[in-house]
Amino acid sequence: MYDNNLTIEGVKTIDEALQGSVFFKESPTPGLRHFYIESYGCQMNFSDSEIVASILGEAGFTPSRNPEESDLILINTCSIREKAEETVRKRLRVFEAIKRQRPGAIVGVLGCMAERLKKKWLEEEKLVDLVVGPDAYRDLPKLIGAAEDGQRLVNVLLSREETYADISPVRLESNGITAFISIMRGCDNMCSFCVVPFTRGRERSRNPFSIVSEACGLFERGYREVTLLGQNVDSYNWEHPETGERVDFAGLLEMVAAIHPALRVRFSTSHPKDMTDKVLHTMARHANICKYIHLPVQSGNSNVLERMNRTYDRDWYKQRIEAIRRILPGAAVSSDIITGFCAETEEEHQDTLSMVEWANFSMSYMFFYSERPGTLAARKYPDDVPESVKKRRLNEVIRLQTAVSLQHNQADIGKTFEVLIEGNSRKSDQDFCGRNTQNKMVVFPKKDGLKPGDYVQVQVCAATSATLLGEIL
Ligand code: SAH
Ligand code: SF4
Ligand code: F3S
Repeated sequence: MYDNNLTIEGVKTIDEALQGSVFFKESPTPGLRHFYIESYGCQMNFSDSEIVASILGEAGFTPSRNPEESDLILINTCSIREKAEETVRKRLRVFEAIKRQRPGAIVGVLGCMAERLKKKWLEEEKLVDLVVGPDAYRDLPKLIGAAEDGQRLVNVLLSREETYADISPVRLESNGITAFISIMRGCDNMCSFCVVPFTRGRERSRNPFSIVSEACGLFERGYREVTLLGQNVDSYNWEHPETGERVDFAGLLEMVAAIHPALRVRFSTSHPKDMTDKVLHTMARHANICKYIHLPVQSGNSNVLERMNRTYDRDWYKQRIEAIRRILPGAAVSSDIITGFCAETEEEHQDTLSMVEWANFSMSYMFFYSERPGTLAARKYPDDVPESVKKRRLNEVIRLQTAVSLQHNQADIGKTFEVLIEGNSRKSDQDFCGRNTQNKMVVFPKKDGLKPGDYVQVQVCAATSATLLGEIL
């Protein structure tokens, strides 16, 4: 769900977000109404901002890179950890200052913090003009209209049906080659640490035909890779409202993979309790389904996993990894890890370290536990591991994962991979960068006649813990 340059708490400013956008205007056009949107959190939130941009486009707004010159300033928020919320609060102070200079401007809060903080921000602090939750974006034009008339409005209702299936997202941060497609919303799991089920509501699957049609449209416009997004893609399950016909995640993967052999398919996130062999066999059958699985373990210890309510244990997770090795030899697996969860002992922490080594994760997103109000864990278990211990354990996991990643990448030296060129490398316009099927970033010198969107065979000659370096064969 998160790529290398988008950490989960990462922020993309409109500066980055609007690179390559087809209708982006350098300076605001007089007479047009402009909006500025800043997004935090996971890829699903960034994907939602593209839906919001589409809805606002229909309502006559043009995106702008500059909040100071915008009529509407939006911040799409994340609640996953305390730190994410603090960042948003700081940004809101900045927008408040802009609003003082520009009294007509409307400031709105979208996304996962909306439900929790609506009262505080809207009524007590009068910091913002509108608060809109993740399932209410269709209401934005109406709410903006009312805000222009001086009302402070909120819609944070969560829906059991909304999937925005018919809305064609405006690609805000596009390299024109890779895109994200939301296939489901919400989450029905109740991991005890996690706020997502409360901020995004019940799980629902989007109509597979609308997903295929969005992917086809992207392919026709030159895109060559789509990543299917959901909090737990393995529980994707769509039922035709009239015929009762069902499509599960393996079925959806088949449908998207069949669009064109030159369109790569990725997905995120897989849940260890739900990832089936059927999905793995589907991946094995299609060369264009990338051999990479983000399978967050969270902890390597069964007792901690039970307190986390992950509904699998260490052995189950190991079996899932073994199934991947058996059915998809050469596939890469990455993970999310939390250190210092409630009552975690030193021995339990050691089990996480040994799991990182055993599972040989190609990379991980690693966090220390941050208690979220209202979650199962907040109600049931004291947050009793001191912050210094949480952070020390986190550093141990990071250090080990970095070494494991380096080894994982060094094992690729001498191998040749098919790489989809995404654009110039970050460091040099003499080099291209792109990913191999295992989702590893590969950097290599350009060759005449090649362009982003082309597939090339690259032989790896060196590696760091984050990148492979190679040469076109
Ligand atoms: N649906 C995905 C996770 C989405 S949240 C899954 O189940 O794997 C992304 C990651 O944030 C989680 O995997 C977890 O590692 C981390 N996270 C979630 N809540 C957290 C919390 N309260 N404190 C620290 N990290 C947390
Ligand atoms: Fe949160 Fe668990 Fe759902 Fe992931 S599966 S979003 S961690 S509740
Ligand atoms: Fe994503 Fe943060 Fe919401 S991780 S689902 S934006 S709480």
